Amino acid sequence: MCGIVGAIAERPVAGILLEGLRRLEYRGYDSAGVALLEQDHIHRLRRIGKVKALADACEQTSMPGRLGIAHTRWATHGKPSEANAHPHMSGERLAVVHNGIIENFEPLKQELQQQGYSFSSETDTEVVAHLIDSAMQSGATVQQALQQTLTRLEGAFALGVIHADQPDQLLTARKGSPLVIGVGIGENFIASDQLALLPVTDRFMFLEDGDIAILKADSIQVLNDAGQPVERAISTYEHGQGSAEKGSFRHFMLKEIYEQPAVMQAVLEGRVASGHLLEQAFGSEAAAVFDQVKQVQIVACGTSFHAGMVAKYWIEELVGIPCMVEVASEFRYRPVVLPQGTLLLTLSQSGETADTLAALREVKERVLATLAICNVPGSSLVRESDLSLMTNAGPEIGVASTKAFTSQLVALMLTTIALGRRHGLEKQKESELIAALQQLPALLEQLLALDGPIEAMSAHFAEKHHALFLGRNSLYPVAMEGALKLKEISYIHAEAYPAGELKHGPLALVDKEMPVIAVAPRNGMLDKLKANLQEVKARGGELFVFAGCEESIQPQEGMHVIHLPAMPSVLDPIAFTLPLQLLSYHVAVLKGTDVDQPRNLAKSVTVE
Ligand code: G6P
Repeated sequence: MCGIVGAIAERPVAGILLEGLRRLEYRGYDSAGVALLEQDHIHRLRRIGKVKALADACEQTSMPGRLGIAHTRWATHGKPSEANAHPHMSGERLAVVHNGIIENFEPLKQELQQQGYSFSSETDTEVVAHLIDSAMQSGATVQQALQQTLTRLEGAFALGVIHADQPDQLLTARKGSPLVIGVGIGENFIASDQLALLPVTDRFMFLEDGDIAILKADSIQVLNDAGQPVERAISTYEHGQGSAEKGSFRHFMLKEIYEQPAVMQAVLEGRVASGHLLEQAFGSEAAAVFDQVKQVQIVACGTSFHAGMVAKYWIEELVGIPCMVEVASEFRYRPVVLPQGTLLLTLSQSGETADTLAALREVKERVLATLAICNVPGSSLVRESDLSLMTNAGPEIGVASTKAFTSQLVALMLTTIALGRRHGLEKQKESELIAALQQLPALLEQLLALDGPIEAMSAHFAEKHHALFLGRNSLYPVAMEGALKLKEISYIHAEAYPAGELKHGPLALVDKEMPVIAVAPRNGMLDKLKANLQEVKARGGELFVFAGCEESIQPQEGMHVIHLPAMPSVLDPIAFTLPLQLLSYHVAVLKGTDVDQPRNLAKSVTVE
């Protein structure tokens, strides 16, 4: 999704802006652009395609400017083209970059056209540039003009603005879209996330919704939506720089898969001790909230939604209270019934997903409390929720989520335990669950050793167009996640079914061209699942089984089997995920797709 970088310094900033854009590439984009203030005019360059194309164009020209903004665009209004790429300008002296959607851009555009403005793009963003200019024509300063403009905009935005009349100012504003301010020494920056600015600072300020900020090289002034000066705290970035680098791995996704043993350690650290959960990890008010929870409503998107579906099995089994799970884009738009005592649990890697945030805002006044399980401290979701639990997975760059998912599952098991305590979960059971979680780092290390056999298995998929994933019980959402991974990065059409549903439809599709992948842990459903696998075999389908029990599932003709090490069954959804991630990864590599930045997808979906 669109990325913003901006800088004001006493040194040339073009290199900083381009490096920032490279670091935002993971968000997904189709074109890139930069605008720098050079002497008394604005120099703008835009290119379709990768940031590299823009960087190459910048190299052909001198760009010594010390004030600038840059952008990666993910098309919403108007196709990917140079004309639609940001920055957008009004005249020659004002440039704007924008992330988000201006919902009322059409009436605003008509109004501006009547005033005589002509539009050179199909974007909603261009109205922002002309509105600012129009206010300045009536005598406003850039800052006043931006403030006036914000009162006219409906929708979500993060903006960066520069004007040749104010060569010492970088203006920014946010409402509903992410934006951080990077605090330097004698220089200051803006960006869509902290990763973009790590080469130049590790100190960040987060703006509240409706804030605007005026950055100079040596000062930052923030005004709230009422125009009053306010202080916003500065915090230091916690993860090492290395986590945003690929190191010796061919792709970020592979690196992130391999980081999972360490991530399991990180998500448990400080949360468990002597065989029990340290509930304070959820915040000081958590205990009082958990005491009153009568049911849980989980809301999330994409991979995070699948984590929520696993949690439903855990919460209903171990806590014994109802747990509903719904995708945020549906939940936010229907009249939902929220019985008394509902805990709204939002799950999000980024904490900025537009639909999840909107769902939270929609019902937060109607629930007992809100809890965000999130990977980005300081994100909107965390700031706007009553309670939060960080997943501590470190930055995830690959668009296809891997370590964020497994860390969410661990955080969800901790939440299950916290709730279970109030509903008769015995101390002994709690200790068993914690002991199981503590085996995860070692267990995932063992699973990574299956990389070779899984890579060999991936060759069977490279020529296929469809695949079916089967699982039962809490492994059904794991099958869904496996199917999502495969379609996201290899572009093979993949669907997941609860294996018991096979004969209600998907069996009609099974033939030798349709590989069927099954996750088959050793649990009470294994015999039922094996019967389902026989149904596939009988129709000539080729099976690829990840099995938890060596004795009961053996390879045979038409059935390839990879055995996982023995593990406590509560770990099954976490452990069985990892081989499916590796399988998708290797299929995508074989197919030669863009593993870390699959076509049409974005890491952080900050618009609806
Ligand atoms: C996008 C990403 C997915 C992610 C989903 C939800 O679709 O490509 O990887 O699962 O958004 O994102 P969130 O940050 O809310 O977990």
